[in-house]
Amino acid sequence: MKLLTGNSNPALARAIADYLELPLTEASVRRFADEEVFVEIHENVRGEDMFVIQSTSFPANDNLMELLICIDALRRASATRITAVLPYFGYARQDRKPGPRTPISAKLVANLITTAGADRVLAVDLHAGQIQGFFDIPTDNLYAAPVMAADILERSGSDNLMVVSPDVGGVVRARALARRLDNAPLAIVDKRRDKPGQSEVQNIIGEVRGRNCILIDDIIDSGGTLCNAADALMEAGAASVTAYLTHGVLSGSAVERVNGSALKELVITDTIQPTEAARASSKIRILPIAPLIGEAIRRIADESSVSSLFD
Ligand code: R5P
Repeated sequence: MKLLTGNSNPALARAIADYLELPLTEASVRRFADEEVFVEIHENVRGEDMFVIQSTSFPANDNLMELLICIDALRRASATRITAVLPYFGYARQDRKPGPRTPISAKLVANLITTAGADRVLAVDLHAGQIQGFFDIPTDNLYAAPVMAADILERSGSDNLMVVSPDVGGVVRARALARRLDNAPLAIVDKRRDKPGQSEVQNIIGEVRGRNCILIDDIIDSGGTLCNAADALMEAGAASVTAYLTHGVLSGSAVERVNGSALKELVITDTIQPTEAARASSKIRILPIAPLIGEAIRRIADESSVSSLFD
C-alpha cells in the first residue's frame, strides 16, 4: 500500500500517513506558468495498492483536477489498484436537478473520477447516502458520528442533551448521532432555502426548552443554516447550542458569523484544511479525522470489514 496526496489538505494526508506508519509517496503536484496542473511521481508504484488523498474543497476545480491527474499518472505507472480518498467530496450538494435546465454535477464529477482510472472511492459523510450510487465502483462512505459522539460523551455526558437536525434532510444523520448518545431525544429545524446561500427558519419541531442542544450537519458553508438554527433554538428556550459539523467549508465571512452567533461552540473535523481564521476562532474547535480515515484505508488494503468500524 502507498499513499499519495495533492495539495488540498497536506496536513491531513501527513496525519493519515502517521497513523499508518507509512511515508507519503514522493511526488510533485505543481502548476505550469499558465496554471495547468502537472504531476510527477518520483518513485516506483508498479503493482502498488495506491490511495490518493485529496479533498475537492476550495479551490474546488483546481483540487479536482489535481485528483484526476494524480489518478491518471498512477494508472499510467501501472498501479494495481487506485482508491480516491475524498475526505470532502465537493460538488456533492449538486446531487439532483433543482430546476429545469440545471446539471447534476455530483454525478458528472463521479464519472470524471471513475474515467480517470479510480477503482474505488473512500469518502466521509457524503452529503446524501445515494451519492454512493453515482459511482459504478465500490464506494465506502465513512461516518464522523462515532468520533463526534465520543467527544460529546467525554465533554458533557448525555444528560439533558437534545440532538437537533438543522433541516429535514439531516434527520437520518441526527438520529444516528442520537442513538450513540444513549438515545437522546431529537428535534428538527424546519428550514426553507429559496436561493443558494440564503436560508430561513420556519419552525422548530420538538420541545427544546431547557435542553443542551447538539446541532449536527454535514457541511457549514456560509454558516447561515447553522447560525439561524442556533438563534431559533435559543429563542425557543434552549439552555445552550453546540454544533458538530463534518466539513468546515466556511466560505466568505462564515467564521465571523460563527464568532458572533448564539453558538456556544462549533466543532468541525479537518476533512477540509482549516483556515487561519478558523484556527484562531475561540468558538471553533477541530476534531482530527485522520485516525478514522487511516483505519479505513488499512482495512481496505487488508480486505477486512470497513462497516464494522461503526458497530
Ligand atoms: C444542506 O443541505 C447542507 O446539509 C448544509 O446545511 C448546508 O450546505 C450549509 O450551508 P450554509 O452554511 O451556507 O447555510
